[in-house]
Amino acid sequence: MTDRTLVALDVNGQRYEVAAPPHHTLLEVLREECGLTGTKHGCELGECGACTVLIDGAPVYSCLTLALESQGHEITTVEGLATGNELHPLQTAFAEEGAAQCGYCTPGILLAAKALLDRNPRPDRAQMAEAISGNLCRCTGYTAIYEAIDRAAAAARSK
Ligand code: FES
Ligand code: FES
Repeated sequence: MTDRTLVALDVNGQRYEVAAPPHHTLLEVLREECGLTGTKHGCELGECGACTVLIDGAPVYSCLTLALESQGHEITTVEGLATGNELHPLQTAFAEEGAAQCGYCTPGILLAAKALLDRNPRPDRAQMAEAISGNLCRCTGYTAIYEAIDRAAAAARSK
């Protein structure tokens, strides 16, 4: 049996104390120990962005981050975007613009876009492209994603 160690993670405002092999990535521990399967397994090589989460508000590839080194930081996954029953403006906009097709890239792109809008409420297309440049989407051609980020930014500004 693999040795396990205690890992304490602060995810979406909640403390998770789990036992996990010390070499396991944040992606593995989120999905397998915390039950948060919204974060997706993709390449596990730092190339696709499907595993993107926010650590202290900045997007990171959870497949390249050890769970142990994520302790003491605020982690946000796609499960933490909605407030109660109220979707985040990005989630609403992605639905309205058809920016999620197969949806596999969507959790990671939502989080990369959230990090962008949190620091820049009025991004232009070049800034959006840069913000999601680490997130591959095979389905949409990206146009609907940019439209959705635009729509969410406008919605957030009008609140
Ligand atoms: S699964 Fe992490 S970058 Fe692809
Ligand atoms: S919606 Fe299918 S990979 Fe992006």
